[in-house]
Amino acid sequence: MGDEPPAVRGLTPDMDGCAGRYGDLKAAEGDIWARLGRAVVDRRSPWHTPVLATVTADGAPALRVLVLRGVARAERRLRLHTDIRSAKVGEIAAEPRVGLLFYDKAAKLQLRVSGTAQVAHDGAEADSAWAATRLFGRRCYTAPVAPGTPAPGPVSGLPAELEHREPTREESETGRPNFAIVLVEVVRLEFLHLAVTGHRRGVLTWDPHGRGWEGRWLVP
Ligand SMILES: Cc1cc2nc3c(=O)[nH]c(=O)nc-3n(C[C@H](O)[C@H](O)[C@H](O)COP(=O)(O)O)c2cc1C
Repeated sequence: MGDEPPAVRGLTPDMDGCAGRYGDLKAAEGDIWARLGRAVVDRRSPWHTPVLATVTADGAPALRVLVLRGVARAERRLRLHTDIRSAKVGEIAAEPRVGLLFYDKAAKLQLRVSGTAQVAHDGAEADSAWAATRLFGRRCYTAPVAPGTPAPGPVSGLPAELEHREPTREESETGRPNFAIVLVEVVRLEFLHLAVTGHRRGVLTWDPHGRGWEGRWLVP
């Protein structure tokens, strides 16, 4: 004990309140889904805005931040929203395997999600996601030109009349044809929990035959 550097003195594995759950794979699985669920409704949660990774046509990785919009633990599904004209939609069509990366600095918890994505434009789920999207959120989808199109200068892409205000409900409906949901069926959850007393890394893999999560520890 006397040899410990001062910064370590007095720290216990539970100091951030979640280390205990990351000493047990079953508890970790429950904690991960609970955190994902909270991240949908808590806009201040660092897990509210994960990074989505796709693969481009030439095999290069493409990453961007998205808002986590829905979590269904029983279906192992995460829902995100996007513009159907955006590059990621074509990338997912060509290669549906995607990654999602979450990091919560306060909880010292990284989560790497692997899954299979599909984009839905029509249908009940996309309709209800659109219905639940606020007018201000709908405004992004009213841009007449596709996201990622080269621009002559620093432009918002929005219709000029909407640049400084929220659209009316009727105006917002011009965005509906551009709105799509991305549903990610999760097949792998890998966590890394940081602790001064030693990090913990584990992986939970979905077993389609046993219909359950198989957990394994990894050396951090
Ligand atoms: C905080 C934050 C939240 C974002 N949320 C979304 C989102 O929910 N959906 C989305 O398509 N893009 C979102 N974006 C923009 C994307 O990061 C990205 O720039 C855009 O989707 C174009 O990506 P793509 O050309 O690779 O398809 C967000 C960006 C930031 C910084």
